[in-house]
Amino acid sequence: MSDLHSLVDEGHVVICCGSGGVGKTTSAAVLALEGARRGRNAVVVTIDPAKRLANALGLEVLSNTAREIEPERWDPDGCSPGGRLSALMLDTKSTFDGLVKRYAADGTQAGGILDNRFYRNISSALGGTQEYMAMEKLHELHEDGGYDLIVVDTPPTRHALDFLDAPKRITSLLDNRIFRMLMTPTKAGMRVAGIALQTLLRTIGRVVGTAVIDDVVAFFRAFEGMEDGFRERAATVLALLADPGTRFVLVTAPQRDAVDEAVYFADQIAGHGLSVDALIVNRVHPQFGDEHAAGLRARAEHLPGGLREGEAKAAAVRLAKQYENLADFQEISIRERAHLDAIRSKVGTAAVATVPLLPHDVHDFTALSEISEQLFNQNR
Ligand SMILES: Nc1ncnc2c1ncn2[C@@H]1O[C@H](COP(=O)(O)OP(=O)(O)OP(=O)(O)O)[C@@H](O)[C@H]1O
Ligand SMILES: [Mg+2]
Repeated sequence: MSDLHSLVDEGHVVICCGSGGVGKTTSAAVLALEGARRGRNAVVVTIDPAKRLANALGLEVLSNTAREIEPERWDPDGCSPGGRLSALMLDTKSTFDGLVKRYAADGTQAGGILDNRFYRNISSALGGTQEYMAMEKLHELHEDGGYDLIVVDTPPTRHALDFLDAPKRITSLLDNRIFRMLMTPTKAGMRVAGIALQTLLRTIGRVVGTAVIDDVVAFFRAFEGMEDGFRERAATVLALLADPGTRFVLVTAPQRDAVDEAVYFADQIAGHGLSVDALIVNRVHPQFGDEHAAGLRARAEHLPGGLREGEAKAAAVRLAKQYENLADFQEISIRERAHLDAIRSKVGTAAVATVPLLPHDVHDFTALSEISEQLFNQNR
């Protein structure tokens, strides 16, 4: 049985995933904060954080490299035993540029790729690039950052877990026959490839325009010699994802559609031979006492009965409204717990922690601490 405590105490990489708007970015920030408070050198990789949260994390300046947050901001009482907290905001394009520069043989090759129009489009717009670059950032922080806890946020798409396949996809693109032909125009190969390729390119060209094809061909040619670096890197990322020090946290809201999505994510994770280590159910409505909604509604109905118009009746009507309100909450709470059964059974022995719906957004360290308190002080 895993729990959230061991996750932030012992995990090296923590990946927060889940459907849109459920609280992935919030959870990632909370887990990194908790790790730092326990003395770890923690970093959180955020994706499109809300502006106010970004400010709280010291990310006013768009920064693709991790910046340490002054301890006074996240540990004002000085309780952390030497922990450190850093944050960064993923910038897909500059991460991709950095990768190209790293593997290019020289500045000319790097420049050729960075200026290529096809590259400029895919580096920011291609579906899946963001997921892949999040993994690239993870790799970079793992290799060079010196962090002992790296918490990674994921983008709000149903395909967010595509990053599990992204390294493989890059590898299979590099192994693709057409790609190889474009990359290695040997004399004999070019002639053979030439006919087949030109037919193919003409066909594609008719659809997307020949200028695009020229860009694509130039892009792949410019890539020559860099495949090995990319392939190696993809293999390292895959190994890191499968490492026992890597933990997956699935975040969900208790509503039915969010839970359905969470089940889908849990299946995806299992499908890759990985497991969900913790489930965070965020924005849960509280349950007030054990009284059934029906009982509360009956009480609300009887309260003003028999009273004549006047102050007493007005007070009874007001109280009846409160009972109605309480009954509504009880119903929501019961419904939410019923939805959660579906996902609990999916995640097996994973730790399950709930966070109540707070009456405010979570955009500063006070609110992050409030969530941390909820997550880490339950089931003790
Ligand atoms: N327990 C909570 N109570 C109240 N508000 C919350 C709670 N958790 C998160 N929020 C707020 O809900 C909003 C969405 O949270 P967050 O940005 O963490 O979700 P996300 O899953 O990262 O979203 P996206 O999929 O868009 O990236 C934020 O404004 C956040 O402050
Ligand atoms: Mg987010």
